[in-house]
Amino acid sequence: MVKNCRLSNLKLKKIFDFGKQPLGNGFLKKKNFNKEFFFRMEIGFCMQSKLVQLIKQPPPKMMFHSKYPFFSSLSKNMQQHFEKTANQIYLKYKRKKNNFFIIELGSNDGIFLEYFRKNKIKHLGIEPAKNVATISKNKKIQTLNKFFDDKCANEIVKNYGKADIFFSANVICHIPNITKLSKNIKKVLNKDGYLIFEDPYLGDIVKKGSYDQIYDEHVFFFSIHSVRNIFKKIDMTLIDALPQTTHGGSMRYIIKNSLNAKTTKNLDILLKNETKLGITSLKGFTKLSNKIKKSKKDLLKILKNLKKNGKSVAGYAATSKSTTILNYCKIKSDLIPYINDTTPLKIGKFSPGMHIPIKSYEKSKKTEPDYYILFAWNHIKEILKKERNFIKKGGKFITHIPKVRIIK
Ligand code: TMP
Repeated sequence: MVKNCRLSNLKLKKIFDFGKQPLGNGFLKKKNFNKEFFFRMEIGFCMQSKLVQLIKQPPPKMMFHSKYPFFSSLSKNMQQHFEKTANQIYLKYKRKKNNFFIIELGSNDGIFLEYFRKNKIKHLGIEPAKNVATISKNKKIQTLNKFFDDKCANEIVKNYGKADIFFSANVICHIPNITKLSKNIKKVLNKDGYLIFEDPYLGDIVKKGSYDQIYDEHVFFFSIHSVRNIFKKIDMTLIDALPQTTHGGSMRYIIKNSLNAKTTKNLDILLKNETKLGITSLKGFTKLSNKIKKSKKDLLKILKNLKKNGKSVAGYAATSKSTTILNYCKIKSDLIPYINDTTPLKIGKFSPGMHIPIKSYEKSKKTEPDYYILFAWNHIKEILKKERNFIKKGGKFITHIPKVRIIK
């Protein structure tokens, strides 16, 4: 059990205890209910490294296996986001020489690298989940179906050379051994190359009370301060940070593989904002804890009231985030009889822990409830637009971000 910071090795201060939780993406069949895996989900803060992290995490191989049910390209917004990002990065960082090389860690089904394949630019995806790696390979995107460890890093340098850019989105926050990972990233980067990565941002979690970003797969909840500390240790410099709207509020970090590189004014402003928000000390986390407790109370109150008044409620999108809400609030199928979802691997199964049935989106649309609780709240715009007929007919959405309410 990890009790110390994964970066500084100092003792963590406990911030919040979510109790017993299953795997966020552990959608399962009825026959496997009695074999289900649970762990005590608590988060802690390191006063020195400023890293917020899970105190204990299930083994990575339990989470990222051949049937990992997450396909990046299923969301139109994400497709647009990655195409734009790829274009921005290439235009900004390509050098005069024409041998630009980009590596992506956790390349999923190739949503980001597709741009480089199309434009015949040297690229390499590293993707440990076999099902998505195969999709990416079938699209002719150069992909290694491997965990990124010492051996893999050495193999990359030997067989492909060093990269100008090492990119990763929504992946680094999943990897517990951050010291080893950062060293391996440095190993495959050119001198003066850049690591560019984005992950859900701690500042947004605290501001919005979006505690459902916390589940087994996310071991770290990065702030700009903590990212700066991670890479300072290996002589890399965080030079800039760029807020993103993806995943309900993310941050993109630009880190140069050199010591004492010039940093931006924007970075100074964002660092000051973090101090004001209280996430460089324990202050901000007391506020977060209170927000989480209130969110649970308010959500249960709405759901119980609706049930008492004979209204029907269903879940909209079986996100991994919803696992935290359902299990922390102990919401079962008496309050939410089913959740709809578009992912074939989830349909026909049950939600982790609380065992709410997952119905196919198409089938569930035939008999709609009075209310949907929006678990994919990070796609709110896309969904409210898609569901305008449901809303026109008097249907309503419930959200818990930034506070529990019925969307009017
Ligand atoms: P995430 O990108 O927030 O993790 O959400 C992914 C899950 O949400 C995935 O199972 C697909 C599901 N989903 C729907 O079912 N309908 C939708 O309209 C959206 C945007 C997502």
